[in-house]
Amino acid sequence: MSESQLWHEVDDYFTDRLLPDAPDDALEAALRDSDAAGLPAIAVSPLQGKLLQLLAQVQGARHILEIGTLGGYSTIWLGRALPADGRLISLEFNPEHAEVATRNIARAGLDKQVEVRVGAALDSLPQLADENPPPFDLVFIDADKVNNPHYMEWALRLTSTGSLIVLDNVVRGGRVADPANTDPDVVGTRAALDLIGSHPRLSGTAIQTVGAKEYDGFALARVLA
Ligand SMILES: C[S@@+](CC[C@H](N)C(=O)[O-])C[C@H]1O[C@@H](n2cnc3c(N)ncnc32)[C@H](O)[C@@H]1O
Repeated sequence: MSESQLWHEVDDYFTDRLLPDAPDDALEAALRDSDAAGLPAIAVSPLQGKLLQLLAQVQGARHILEIGTLGGYSTIWLGRALPADGRLISLEFNPEHAEVATRNIARAGLDKQVEVRVGAALDSLPQLADENPPPFDLVFIDADKVNNPHYMEWALRLTSTGSLIVLDNVVRGGRVADPANTDPDVVGTRAALDLIGSHPRLSGTAIQTVGAKEYDGFALARVLA
């Protein structure tokens, strides 16, 4: 058995035991319809979705910002952590992705709490800031990695003490630590990690993961005073 097969088997094992009722109908349907609409299969895994949900619950999050909606799969996991008066805003560049996500979110019964905004996030974020929203308790960054340092800066602007920022895909098979790799996405992720490590208002870490999403990882950063 290859390493990758083993990672998948262990993910299946954990999913069977820890998420016996999930993915449920709405989550399954979100993946199925995303696939049928030709969206790339790059959503978080069920176990990762549950981690996002748990983080949002630990935060007691009432306001969540997501950058990178795709078909709304991670959005549904996060949206389900919200209290009845909570709100999630998800930013998506591709109108077709946003359309599929909007349908998936409505089927999950989250359309009152979740709003998908279409456009390049670097255009949507200043507009959002102009609205003076309440600080976001959790920001999930999962879009074009080249802009990760900009997304981190915006996340800092739109959060407050105690907020949590989750930055996805920081390992990408180990490319992050390969000095010969100058892919703009990798360079963007390195810059975001440097920002987390050096910013006086951030305390962070990064964790490598293996599983259904192969060898990757995520960074977590808590906003300080
Ligand atoms: C990895 S997928 C998001 C997956 C989703 N968070 C999930 O786990 O279900 C990245 C998404 O970011 C979107 N994206 C790419 N560039 C963007 C940009 N500049 N602004 C907003 N969204 C962007 C892509 O269209 C894609 O749908």
